[in-house]
Amino acid sequence: MSETRGVSTIQDPSNEAAADVPDSLCVTVVGAGHVGLVTAATLASMGHEVRALDADAEKIRSLEAGTPWFFEPGLEELVRRGMDEGRLTFTTEGAIALAGADIVFVCVGTPARENGDANLLAVEAATVDIARHARGRLVIVEKSTVPAGTSTRIRQTVARERPDLIDQIEVVSNPEFLREGSAVEDSLMPERILIGAESEVGLQMMRRLYASLLERGVPLIETDIVTAELAKHACNAFLALKISYMNALARVCERAGADVVSIGEVMGSDARIGPHFLSAGLGFGGFCFPKDLVAFERLAESLGYEFSLLREVTRINDEVIAVTREKIREALWNLEGKRIALLGLSFKPDTDDVRFSPALKLASTLLAEGAHVVGCDPEASHAAKEEVDGLEIAPDAYEAARGAHCVVLCTEWEEFTRLDLNRLRESTAYPVFVDGRNVFDPLAMTEAGFAYIPTGRPLPKV
Ligand code: UDX
Repeated sequence: MSETRGVSTIQDPSNEAAADVPDSLCVTVVGAGHVGLVTAATLASMGHEVRALDADAEKIRSLEAGTPWFFEPGLEELVRRGMDEGRLTFTTEGAIALAGADIVFVCVGTPARENGDANLLAVEAATVDIARHARGRLVIVEKSTVPAGTSTRIRQTVARERPDLIDQIEVVSNPEFLREGSAVEDSLMPERILIGAESEVGLQMMRRLYASLLERGVPLIETDIVTAELAKHACNAFLALKISYMNALARVCERAGADVVSIGEVMGSDARIGPHFLSAGLGFGGFCFPKDLVAFERLAESLGYEFSLLREVTRINDEVIAVTREKIREALWNLEGKRIALLGLSFKPDTDDVRFSPALKLASTLLAEGAHVVGCDPEASHAAKEEVDGLEIAPDAYEAARGAHCVVLCTEWEEFTRLDLNRLRESTAYPVFVDGRNVFDPLAMTEAGFAYIPTGRPLPKV
């Protein structure tokens, strides 16, 4: 199967191949991380029997007590419901998790190697484990973001481990598009489901797995495997490109005296561009965009194509941190000994994830300049403190701002948008406010007495 089959909104697949596939499937999810745990809990809520496998005993202990080991809105409720209904279990034992599974999702991490390549060691280890425990017909689903061509490696590994079963094991690519902070919502009602398969059998099994979503009209896009694998990198890289475009535009706006927020509105009202991912600011972070960009560029290079556009996206994103540091320096003169308050430490709101967080990159660069940096975050303070040596943590924004020479809004948590600006300003030593996400109304900030420094917007006239 190599052709792209296009988009379909299948009501109920009832052809022959689907006829012998049971309604409720036995699913194993390997890797109970940000993607795996959400996938497991969502599939359990659809009525499947789901076992989540993770090598980390501490994580599994916490999950067995009904508590996800990371913060994600709505996830704890979904996990507990799955457990109460007897459809969701957790284990560290491959033999228990994998025995009798119809479908196994590979949701292990694919971090970047030193050279930027995706490190697929965990995917290989999971494949070996799955193959060794397989007893019969089985679909292996690539859910982790992997470079195009990984399915061939998975098949090769299965063939080496279990030559007896190779005709009964299908490999399917079903990339996730969930966003941290709204991962549960994104999984319960995705914008689309993408399935790359090499046979009708694998495809039919996946249609049956997602039958409840397809019945509700969620579009299904069916492709060959390599197309599905590449599509995931293509989406993430394009979204990152939109953000870097807006950040480069912000630099031009700052020089021209134009407003990047208004330009974003103009651009977003053009249906061909679309209104999303047009916010300039401190740039993108998280475990996906930065590593996927580099991995995608490396993949293209390995195929003989220099995708230099992707390098530029990363460069512009890195530049944002230095630009922000220089804005603070310009406002404060010397950075040494200055107290700088960072509001928001997670890489985006509604998550406690600080991996590749722009806020922490800024904290590190300010600390390296001799500044005293105090951060606060509704969920990510603990993780941030572990990550950045010398970062002080305050319980809230007012405490962080106490005696600060500059306050920087790094992550646009909702609670920061409701701050009492007069109270905040009264806490500070110098009333300097850098808005790294363009959250505040420039006039309101000026009226509250702040020297307000937005991103890519003209300074309000006083
Ligand atoms: C991303 C993809 O959106 C998702 O489809 C994929 O499955 C995983 O990677 P996520 O990393 O959770 O999801 O975050 P996302 O909401 O995409 O934001 C990524 C980063 O971009 C954040 O740091 C965010 O603050 C930043 N961003 C987003 C901007 O700087 N400007 C914008 O306009 C939008």
